[in-house]
Amino acid sequence: MDRGGRENLSREKPTREEPAAEPTARFLRACRRLPVDATPVWFMRQAGRYLPEYRAIRARHDLLEITRRPELAAEITLQPVEALGVDAAILFADILLPVVPLGFQLEFVKGEGPVIHNPVGGMDDVKRLRRVDVESDLGHVLEAVRLVRRALEDDGMPLIGFAGAPFTVASYLIEGGPSRDYLKTKRLMYTGCGQGNGAGAWDLLMGALAETLGEYLAAQIKAGAQAVQLFDSWVGVLSPGDYARYVLPYSRKVLERVRETGVPAIHFGTGTAALLSLMKSAGGEVIGLDWRVPLDAGWQTLGHQVAVQGNLDPAVLFSPMPVLREKVEDVLRRAGGTPGHIFNLGHGILPETPVENVRAVVEMVHEWVVR
Ligand code: CP3
Repeated sequence: MDRGGRENLSREKPTREEPAAEPTARFLRACRRLPVDATPVWFMRQAGRYLPEYRAIRARHDLLEITRRPELAAEITLQPVEALGVDAAILFADILLPVVPLGFQLEFVKGEGPVIHNPVGGMDDVKRLRRVDVESDLGHVLEAVRLVRRALEDDGMPLIGFAGAPFTVASYLIEGGPSRDYLKTKRLMYTGCGQGNGAGAWDLLMGALAETLGEYLAAQIKAGAQAVQLFDSWVGVLSPGDYARYVLPYSRKVLERVRETGVPAIHFGTGTAALLSLMKSAGGEVIGLDWRVPLDAGWQTLGHQVAVQGNLDPAVLFSPMPVLREKVEDVLRRAGGTPGHIFNLGHGILPETPVENVRAVVEMVHEWVVR
């Protein structure tokens, strides 16, 4: 996948999707609620440890190193496209990469997940945030986007870019890693929100993240991403009132930046049954649903002016074939063939998932006809 480095890439004409043109790829058509020949399907975390070809690369390189080497990131992005027959590729990267140029020390610790060695405690830390120039600071990710787009161009296979939403990224920065109760995050949210006395630490942190993440997505789109997903994976820990007040304005800012580009955005979270209408109002042409809400009920709450993505429980991929089929068909039946359904899991593929079951789901989805 060595294509001669940066110089060649920067001379290339931009590969930006013309937003006005009606797309032909199933996935992009479904994002716009256009009719499709079969339901499109892809999987969150479709590139990862359940794939032997990913593990072979991981055995020789650590995660951050892979994301800093565009040719490796591109190769891994393409693995599930070849292995599974999915309808879209998702860039291999991580939602936490933009925090490095913001000034955070990020490490992925085996068995623990991401660790931030200098977490945010209060205003002093927020004031130390660096201003990010996405084109230079995250140029390695944008280069991976260009490489993948070029590799997929001939097949018309769409590439999804992504970022973490301000709340979910902030939660890692404040907690210093994964959390159960998000107590530190909520404490900063409740005390660091300016109550008429100017912006507090929360407002400044969320404002800086919204700005950076919006520009990061816009840069991925400019480099060739034809859709983007905003991952607000942990936002379900908030009440609707808190979401509306402390989070929605910042997610809206990110999604408005994407909207200016004309490229569709998928707005995803888990545990969001009570937040769906608010998430829709924050933005996104597609709303991601997890498995805790039946797809038809979720879509009804949202209204059919948005597309939906989801929502098989990732654990179902460990069940015997007849159960797997029953549950896949249940999701499809609830979507009812209405234009604007993208089949996916309700959250990412789990590391021990049998690859043949993932492949079987792709076939089931593609073969399914409304009855
Ligand atoms: O979906 C894809 O195939 C693209 C790649 C991708 C990764 N992370 C690579 C990765 C994507 C879309 C992400 C998003 C991400 N990262 C999210 C949002 C999605 C979600 O699952 O909620 C979150 C919360 C993170 C933060 C993160 N990165 C965690 C919590 C972990 C550790 C958990 C784990 O699975 O080990 C990571 C590490 C990570 N990011 C891995 C991968 C493939 C595992 C790394 C490894 O090989 O050891």
